[in-house]
Amino acid sequence: MTRHGKPVAYLTRRHTDAVETAFAEHFDVSVNIGDLPRSAVELAQALQQCDVLVPTVTDQIDDQVLAQGHFRATLVANVGVGINHIDLTAAGRAGLAVTNTPDVLTDDTADLTLALILMAARRLGEGERVVRGNRWHGLAPTWHLGRTLRGRTLGVVGYGRIGRAVARRARALGMSVTWIGRPGGAAPPDAEQAPSLDALLAVSDVVTLHAPASPDTRHLMNAARIGAMRSGSILINTARGSLVDEHALAIALRDGHLFAAGLDVHEHEPRINQTLLGLENVVLLPHLGSATLETRTAMGLRALDNALDWLAGRRPRDLVS
Ligand code: DGY
Repeated sequence: MTRHGKPVAYLTRRHTDAVETAFAEHFDVSVNIGDLPRSAVELAQALQQCDVLVPTVTDQIDDQVLAQGHFRATLVANVGVGINHIDLTAAGRAGLAVTNTPDVLTDDTADLTLALILMAARRLGEGERVVRGNRWHGLAPTWHLGRTLRGRTLGVVGYGRIGRAVARRARALGMSVTWIGRPGGAAPPDAEQAPSLDALLAVSDVVTLHAPASPDTRHLMNAARIGAMRSGSILINTARGSLVDEHALAIALRDGHLFAAGLDVHEHEPRINQTLLGLENVVLLPHLGSATLETRTAMGLRALDNALDWLAGRRPRDLVS
């Protein structure tokens, strides 16, 4: 407790006004007003000085941070569903519980995935660059042709909340859906489970990734798997950059094996693969999946709920370890 009698929360990034105000009602809040990712030393210091650390995906809470001493903090209340940036084993050793914020970002992330599918299939980013570059000479019947989505197959890799929300949207476009992964609920009747990833790749015109990042899923889409995708197909990633071997992807896009790709997440964020940057047939977004005022507010408030439950001795609903 501080002299105000409130526990201390350290917010590693700025949050929406509603979130910062709500935290301030319950906590003595310290906010990283510079709004840039914290270093390992800064994160360790924060853990020594606060009761609850409130990080995002940009904060690497790894062994380097967690081995740095005895912490006052007992909870890492992550704002985000993915927790691959937190070493859960080391956190456990350091006496830290970890929570995340599932559910509230499902629809916005699925919407963004759909936007990427449309952008990639219809070459929308490229078209806008032509217009903004004053290079458009008017409609021509054979110019800037994309691909029709109706009647095509979407392969969903990872069939949890977001994967299923993307599948629902794709069906509204007239696509059929095949999926692989553990279903996060009852699988919709009109989506077919693929017997293997290779089988899914063999029939999908668009492949969209929704698996968590882990050592097992690193480069899930490696050169061989990208090579096994249908000629002229499209790869979409709104999950985590580590799932895709970007070098192999760039070669497949450059050589025309793939028609296009759409990436919201990248292997070495915020650095973007230089070869991909030079290609027209890849849409590159800056990790915007959950980036709406409403969802970012809901995520922050969900982290607050988890923190309040934890400090009150109740089991937070999003306790992951
Ligand atoms: C998530 O919630 O994991 C998103 O990628 C934003 O961090």
